[in-house]
Amino acid sequence: VVGEFQPVPWYPTPLGGTSELWKESYAKAQEMVREMTLAEKVNVTTGTGWQMGLCVGNTDGPLGLRYAQNISGFPAGITTGATWNRELMQMRGFALGKEARLKGVNVILGPSMGPLGMMPAGGRNWEAFGSDPVLQGVAAAETIRGIQRNGVMATAKHFIGNEQEHFRQSFEWGTPTALSSNIDDRALHEVFAWPFAESVRADVASVMCSYQMVNNSYACENSKLINGILKDELGFQGFVQSDWLAQRSGVHSAIGGLDMSMPGDGLHWADGVPLWGSELTRAALNMSVPMERLNDMVTRIVAAWYHFRQDSWEPPAPEGDGGPNFSSWTKDRVGHLHQGSPDNDAMGVVNKFVDAQGTGEHAHSIVARHIAAEGTVLLKNINNTLPLSRVQTAPYGKYRVGVYGEDAGPGQGPNACADRGCNQGTLASGWGSGAVDFPYLISPWEALQYAWSKDSVDVKAYLTNNVAPQDLEEQDLCLVFVNADGGEGFIRSGGIDADRNDLFLQKNGTQLVEGVAKHCGGGQGKTVVIVHAIGPVVMESWIDLPGIHAVLYANLPGQESGNALMDVLFGDVDASGRLPYTIGRRLEDYGPGAQVLYEHPDPSIPQVDLDQGLYVDYRYFDKFNITPRFEFGFGLSYTTFDYSALSIEKLQKKSQWPSKRPTSEVEPPAYDDVHSSPTDSLFPPGFRALRKYIYPYLATLEGTEPGTYPYPEGYNKHQNPSAAGGGPGGNPSLYEPMLELTIEVTNTGTRTGQDVVQVYVSFPEDVAEHRGLGWSRESIEFPERVLRNFSKVLLQPGETRNVKMTLTRKDLSYWSVRAQNWVLPTEGKFRIWAGRSSRDLPLVVEF
Ligand code: BGC
Ligand code: BGC
Repeated sequence: VVGEFQPVPWYPTPLGGTSELWKESYAKAQEMVREMTLAEKVNVTTGTGWQMGLCVGNTDGPLGLRYAQNISGFPAGITTGATWNRELMQMRGFALGKEARLKGVNVILGPSMGPLGMMPAGGRNWEAFGSDPVLQGVAAAETIRGIQRNGVMATAKHFIGNEQEHFRQSFEWGTPTALSSNIDDRALHEVFAWPFAESVRADVASVMCSYQMVNNSYACENSKLINGILKDELGFQGFVQSDWLAQRSGVHSAIGGLDMSMPGDGLHWADGVPLWGSELTRAALNMSVPMERLNDMVTRIVAAWYHFRQDSWEPPAPEGDGGPNFSSWTKDRVGHLHQGSPDNDAMGVVNKFVDAQGTGEHAHSIVARHIAAEGTVLLKNINNTLPLSRVQTAPYGKYRVGVYGEDAGPGQGPNACADRGCNQGTLASGWGSGAVDFPYLISPWEALQYAWSKDSVDVKAYLTNNVAPQDLEEQDLCLVFVNADGGEGFIRSGGIDADRNDLFLQKNGTQLVEGVAKHCGGGQGKTVVIVHAIGPVVMESWIDLPGIHAVLYANLPGQESGNALMDVLFGDVDASGRLPYTIGRRLEDYGPGAQVLYEHPDPSIPQVDLDQGLYVDYRYFDKFNITPRFEFGFGLSYTTFDYSALSIEKLQKKSQWPSKRPTSEVEPPAYDDVHSSPTDSLFPPGFRALRKYIYPYLATLEGTEPGTYPYPEGYNKHQNPSAAGGGPGGNPSLYEPMLELTIEVTNTGTRTGQDVVQVYVSFPEDVAEHRGLGWSRESIEFPERVLRNFSKVLLQPGETRNVKMTLTRKDLSYWSVRAQNWVLPTEGKFRIWAGRSSRDLPLVVEF
């Protein structure tokens, strides 16, 4: 039954090469693949093993290039989401892609849009863009466009349901299996897969399947998800690569739709025993993996390479050959070419130290700073405490400013721990494979020292979280810095096992804030709190304290942290960040379905039911009338805005169904069945095989006899293509605009500022579907409101603008589990809301 938490088989894998846009690339790929030997084909599908090449597989990073030098440490995904600025999202993607291109990297392992953000304490939410499918989808698509404009391939990850780190896989957590994220069909479509659909629309080259199981089948062999949803329904033409050792089977993953095994190792790290490689060669020979499937894997990968014109790449480095010109494993110029092998005697120039950071007006630090500033959210600002003035006067002598907290300072430097796996000094990134080695990190204190003229202002720093009251008594202004850290599952640090244990500030932060607020200026001073965090922080005990005059939520700002903070603190730019998630009053307020499962129910498979999926984040607060501290989409500005009019133009009549799925005119490549002789796949004579290196060659002919193999249940069942498919991201008719909205916004204040105009939709009440053949009807539940579009506008004081946005058929449809299609309710009225946050929506119209 679709919609229950049951694996539904979907075979065989739809062949790549059915889209007009990829037609030429597939034609070229076919020419090449046709000439390949079996071993050459297998070689394309399987990595060479952990640390066997210069990249991590080919290197990665949602925030920059991991393990490289002369690159940038950009603001994290979550900070980028908090800008709500499409242009900046794409600029960051472009800069990331440029750096990869200059370093000779073919595929970037980002952006991340899963975790979707179901669990506020989840360790990896910061790599993605915020707890809403539309915000994730827009940011992911813009990032992908930016990256791929350089001819570098982007990877949409992690497909799908990697919402918590505990038990994401077995080997890291020492458990028999990974957990199963259980996702119902409707939440899959309306929430979790939504940003992946947007990524396919943005023409993403690669998708990475995640570590855990989904509905009790590993994500990298889940045929319903890869074959059914991704390749049939969403029309994905690129290739699916496994997360690092997320592949848990050989034959099953192949027929389940996986196209590339990364980093090529099998069930264990670096033991030289692959699931594919020589095993895939054997499987193709004995016919347990159909040759058609292997051909499709290879064709998809080679087509992507042509599609991004990587066949004609100019070498980026002066002496380069077009391959990677840096090593992930050493900072020395000369190093091992095959680090991971015990036979690693081959040496060479592995680091050419190509400076990829851009120069002059193209310096990537500019966009990094811009995003960090616009990704800072002003949550509280009594009597316009902020922006601060650079000229301060005090009745008696100098104006006195105190800077408090370890988080304001440099600590032991930004790269003190591998993969940023500890919380020390100022927090500018979460930890894990999504982190980079910072080229530099401007701490807040570094920037604050020079912020005021020394003649009129005395600034002192106390870079500790234990501040004595006497160090606070004399101050006019206290800036207190606090944080909350976490990250990816392979690092545990400071009592945090990747996922956070709670939503409180860490390292005594709550007490620090309370103490500063109480004693600053003997109770008369003004305290400004600055938070750096990987996600929401509960602030009930201090947010309303009278001493706290302003709060800035600076997220994870990257290398330009201090500079960007000055831009906002002093009002050189408006405070224009908006929350990419809800800040609740307690962790429990996010709902029972939003809690990390910390205990493993040995020996059974941990079941994590994401059945609250439709009610992620603000949707849960709205449904159960729970008052958050600060709602999704919220953020103050230094000016004020007025929303005066909302009008709609109907571009199409309401109709229940999208158009019929278009049939593709483009034929996927077909290959003649050439049966190569098994002996052709043996190691070539005289070949020196490095230990642990993953090769496509066979050592013996054992097991190569063709046989008849029982394919999994459902394999020979004919699959009907989904009615919701037929184009990139799904049926093209889903993406046709139905409505155009015009929203009149005025800057009613005295400063230039930016506002994020947000559009939410409430579905009609009393929507019901027939149950079976009878007359009884089943009513369809909806969230109160869902975000469907947004636009950031810059307005001069007094200026009025008409902001235009559209809504598509998909925006106004729900996923009908019964019909297995998107349905637009034609009876009853939609309410379309516009305003400044998910709870501040002054304008509404009916449709
Ligand atoms: C992460 C991926 C990453 C890969 C390679 C894995 O642990 O889950 O997101 O791309 O490592 O570094
Ligand atoms: C590697 C990561 C990998 C992780 C998986 C680490 O040792 O550096 O790239 O994703 O292990 O557990």
